[in-house]
Amino acid sequence: MAKSRRLLKIICAVTAILLIIIIITAVTLYYTLFKPKQPKITTQSVTLDSFSQNLGDITDLNVTLGILVTINNPNYGGFKYGNSTTYLTYRGDLVAEAPITEDSIPARGRHDVSMTVLVIGKRLITNPDFSKDLGTKVLNFTSTTTLKGKAIVLKVFKKKATTYSSCDISINIHYNNATSVCKSKVKF
Ligand SMILES: *[C@@H]1O[C@H](CO)[C@@H](O)[C@H](O)[C@H]1NC(C)=O
Ligand SMILES: *[C@@H]1O[C@H](CO)[C@@H](O)[C@H](O)[C@H]1NC(C)=O
Ligand SMILES: *[C@@H]1O[C@H](CO)[C@@H](O)[C@H](O)[C@H]1NC(C)=O
Ligand SMILES: *[C@@H]1O[C@H](CO)[C@@H](O)[C@H](O)[C@H]1NC(C)=O
Repeated sequence: MAKSRRLLKIICAVTAILLIIIIITAVTLYYTLFKPKQPKITTQSVTLDSFSQNLGDITDLNVTLGILVTINNPNYGGFKYGNSTTYLTYRGDLVAEAPITEDSIPARGRHDVSMTVLVIGKRLITNPDFSKDLGTKVLNFTSTTTLKGKAIVLKVFKKKATTYSSCDISINIHYNNATSVCKSKVKF
């Protein structure tokens, strides 16, 4: 009788220790490997795809920009994002937009999304700095992309994620080329 009670005690103690180990392992895994992480969007490149100007009216010009955005999903689970838009502003005025269609990225995968953005020069005329910029032949734009989505890990842990990228784009209409400086940010 005394023997079997001692055995029971030992079994209880071993079970308790095992349980504690399992809980610690699970919690550690959750906070390390499986913790939902923020996806990151970065703008890989901005290119000047085409530029046309009416010689009779220099304010009649059209600019087409190619913007390549990469979305990285660092999670051990999928990231699903909703429809979004890339906005292009010129000295604070919204001048063009391009849609990004909703999609999901598999675990630890990446997506490249390429967009074509058309800027119609006639829309820039209302900006008082436009003719001055035409004189210097340099037009500066800013593009911003925000993605809202959900990171899903092990089908259980879900985390809302917002990620943001913006670029300062400088177009030289004399040389027909463009440079860009981009930064990205994630919000928790
Ligand atoms: C710019 O685009 C507009 C609208 O598509 C068009 O009417 C205009 O002729 C174009 N101008 C030039 C210089 O290509
Ligand atoms: C997202 O955009 C696609 C294509 O434009 C459309 O078919 C779909 O209904 C949109 N989804 C939502 C949630 O608005
Ligand atoms: C346009 O951007 C370039 C490069 O960032 C900068 O050197 C220049 O001063 C900017 N021009 C204007 C008018 O803001
Ligand atoms: C555009 O091309 C010219 C001539 O090749 C070069 O000097 C200039 O640095 C380039 N500018 C940009 C913004 O790439």
